[in-house]
Amino acid sequence: MKLKDVWIERQSEIIEDVDELEKHMFLELPVSVRINTLKAKRNEIIKRLKQKGWKLKQVPFYKDGFILKEREYAIGNTLEHFLGYIYKQEVASMIPPVVLNPKEGDVVLDMAAAPGSKTTQMAQMMKNKGVIVANERYLQRMIALRSNLQRCGVMNTIATGMDGKWFKKVPIKFDKILLDAPCTGTGIIMKSPHTAKTWSLRASIIASNLQKQLIASAISCLKEGGVLVYSTCSLEPEENEEVVNYAIKKFGVSVERIRLKDFKIRNGVVRFGKKTFFEDVKKCARIYPQDNKTSGFFVAKLRK
Ligand SMILES: C[S@@+](CC[C@H](N)C(=O)[O-])C[C@H]1O[C@@H](n2cnc3c(N)ncnc32)[C@H](O)[C@@H]1O
Repeated sequence: MKLKDVWIERQSEIIEDVDELEKHMFLELPVSVRINTLKAKRNEIIKRLKQKGWKLKQVPFYKDGFILKEREYAIGNTLEHFLGYIYKQEVASMIPPVVLNPKEGDVVLDMAAAPGSKTTQMAQMMKNKGVIVANERYLQRMIALRSNLQRCGVMNTIATGMDGKWFKKVPIKFDKILLDAPCTGTGIIMKSPHTAKTWSLRASIIASNLQKQLIASAISCLKEGGVLVYSTCSLEPEENEEVVNYAIKKFGVSVERIRLKDFKIRNGVVRFGKKTFFEDVKKCARIYPQDNKTSGFFVAKLRK
C-alpha cells in the first residue's frame, strides 16, 4: 500500500519531515489500554496484568492510560477486558477527553459517540456523576456504544440516536461538549490502510461540510463560557483548521492553547494552499504519528 502523491504533496506543505510521516503511516501502533476506574482499582489491575506477563508504561499525560508490550495473545481476549476492568484505546484517542476535562457535576454532550471510547473515559473522569448525553446517528454503531457503556459500568449516560445537526433544537444547554467528528480518517491509515487508496480531496470537502454543520449545532447548545473540544483522526486542514476557522468567524468562539505533559504536539496551520485562517488557529493541536508513535489526530479547545 502506498500513499497518494497528492496527499504527500499536501502534507509537505504543512510539515518538513514528510518522509518520517510516510514511514510511520504503515507501522503497527503500540497496544494501549485505559484502566477503567469505575470498575477496578488502578493498582490492582496493574498488578494483575503484570502477573500475567504484560509490561506496562504509563501514558505521560493521563494517569489511567497505559502502553502495553503485547504478549502472545491479544489484550482484548483477557478476562480483565471482558469484565470491563480495562478498555483498549489508542493513546491519541485519550487526548480529547483529557483536554475537555469533564468534572463530577457537569452536563456533557458527546455528539458523535460510538463505539464509546471517549464516552466511557469521560464517565470515569466524572466518577459516574453528573450526566453525559452520548449521541450516535447510526443504529448499528449504537449497539457497540451501548455494549461498551454496559461493560464499563457507566451509569451517568443516556444514549441518543439523533443526527448531531439537530441538537441545535434541543432545549438543553451543556457545560461541556465533545465533538469527535466523523472524518476521512487519514490519521489512522496504519489501522485502516485502505484509506490510503480511497482518500480524495472531494471526500475531505464533503466531510468538512458535515463537520461545519455539526460544530454549529454543538455551539448553539453550549452554555455561554462552556468548552467545546473538536477532534478528528484526520490530518486534512479542510476538516480541521478550516472547521475551527468557521466556528470563530460565525460564532466568535475563542481558541485555547492545548498542553500535554511530555507529549509532542504541533501548532495548527494558518496558511494552506490559497486559504488563510485566523492566527488563533495555531493554538490547535496537530498530533503526528512520527512524534509520539500514535495515530494522527487533531484537537481544538474552544470556549463560547
Ligand atoms: C470518529 S467516530 C466517533 C468515535 C467515538 N467518539 C469514540 O471515541 O469511540 C464518529 C462517529 O460519528 C458518527 N456520525 C456520523 N455522522 C453523524 C451525525 N450526523 N450525527 C451524529 N453522529 C454521526 C459515526 O457513525 C461515528 O460513529
